[in-house]
Amino acid sequence: SKILVLNGPNLNLLGTRQPEVYGNTTLKMIEEACTRHGEKRGLKVTCGQSNHEGALIDAIHAARKEQDGIVLNAGAYTHTSVAIMDAISSAQVPVVEVHLSNIHARETFRHKSFIAPVAIGQICGFGARGYTLALDALAAYLQGETL
Ligand code: DQA
Repeated sequence: SKILVLNGPNLNLLGTRQPEVYGNTTLKMIEEACTRHGEKRGLKVTCGQSNHEGALIDAIHAARKEQDGIVLNAGAYTHTSVAIMDAISSAQVPVVEVHLSNIHARETFRHKSFIAPVAIGQICGFGARGYTLALDALAAYLQGETL
C-alpha cells in the first residue's frame, strides 16, 4: 500500500518547538522513521509538510488518486478547519489522525477536532511514536485485519 504522512503548520519546527510538549524528535527523524517502518511492512511511505491550509487540501486531493491512506497531523488546523474536514470527506481516502501531545489533556480549544469525525481513528499523546502506531493501524485497516 501507499501511504502519505502529512504534517501541518509549525510541525516543521519539531525538535526545537516547545520540546516539553512535543519532544526533541525532529520532523526529519519522524519522516525517516516512518519510511523505514513502512519499508519493513511493505508500505511505500511518502512524506509532506506545509504551513498552508490550501496546500494541505491540495495534498489531500492529490492523494485520492495516488495514495491508499493518509496519516495526518493537521496541527492547529485540526481545531479550526472545516475546509480540511471537507477535503478528507471528498477525497475518499482513509485518514488516521495523529497528534504528538494528548490534545484532550490540554486547553479546551484543542479538545475539538474537525478531523476526528472523518478519520477512521485518532492517535494522540504518544509523541513521535504515534506516527508509526498510525502506520500500523492504517496498514491493518487496509488489509481488513481483525483481532
Ligand atoms: C498538535 C496539537 C495541536 O493542538 C497543535 O496546534 C499542534 C500540534 C500535536 O501534534 O500535538 O500544532 O497537532
